[in-house]
Amino acid sequence: MLPDFSSPQDVAALRRRAAEIVADFEVRERAPVFSTSDPAVKSDEYFLTSGDKVRCFFEEEAFDASGRLRASKDLSVNKIGHALHDLDPVFARFSHDPRLQAIALELGVSDPRVYQSMYIFKQPHIGGEVGWHQDATYFFTEPHSVTTLWFALEAANRSNGCLWVQRGGHRTPLRERFVVDGAGSRLERIDAMPWPEQGEAEPLEVEAGTLVVLHGLLPHYSAPNRSPVSRHAYTLHFVDGGAGYAKTNWLQRTAEFPARGFVEVP
Ligand code: FE2
Repeated sequence: MLPDFSSPQDVAALRRRAAEIVADFEVRERAPVFSTSDPAVKSDEYFLTSGDKVRCFFEEEAFDASGRLRASKDLSVNKIGHALHDLDPVFARFSHDPRLQAIALELGVSDPRVYQSMYIFKQPHIGGEVGWHQDATYFFTEPHSVTTLWFALEAANRSNGCLWVQRGGHRTPLRERFVVDGAGSRLERIDAMPWPEQGEAEPLEVEAGTLVVLHGLLPHYSAPNRSPVSRHAYTLHFVDGGAGYAKTNWLQRTAEFPARGFVEVP
């Protein structure tokens, strides 16, 4: 955890830009939601084709039975993903930072490639839970190399759905793989190791501006946000360009739109 990594000005700029993106977003008839508890929802085409785009996803509880938003759009969006760091000038500027390159090198990742960015809102009252998982499930490389950078844009605590982690859990095996192939998309169990007991989970309570660095094998989750306060965060996922990136990972980049590093390499 690196407190005060991001300046209040940078945090404000990201929050302002996210609000603009949501304001510009047209709510579709069949509104896309994000769920880790229901793989069928997650496998939605809208999600699977968002790796090289900037798209908004709604909270599962954002809609009433008749399909109308319960609250205003800006209080209903779950996240924006997944190529903000490449496509949006404000997020690109924030995400290309020599300090992040230095962190990657320190962690032994000599050629960091940023595959994914997400702006997570964790809305008041309806912010959905994200159950125990390891991020390497979604970014499988050989050897494992995915690392998550989690930038707190607001204070995160027990009441508004902060991250919970298992201390030392990065030494446990990868339990699941999210696979996309000709047969569709699915979560495959690859190791029988159970998820940690509730008593093993430690909350990561942080202030706005803190950067949390998560090992790709670290089991973590976040509880629903039932509080009146949102819990905005921005995340980046990078892998080592020297590791084998699985062709069955949901997020694929092309030669025309490659995953870049944190600094421009001439
Ligand atoms: Fe995660």
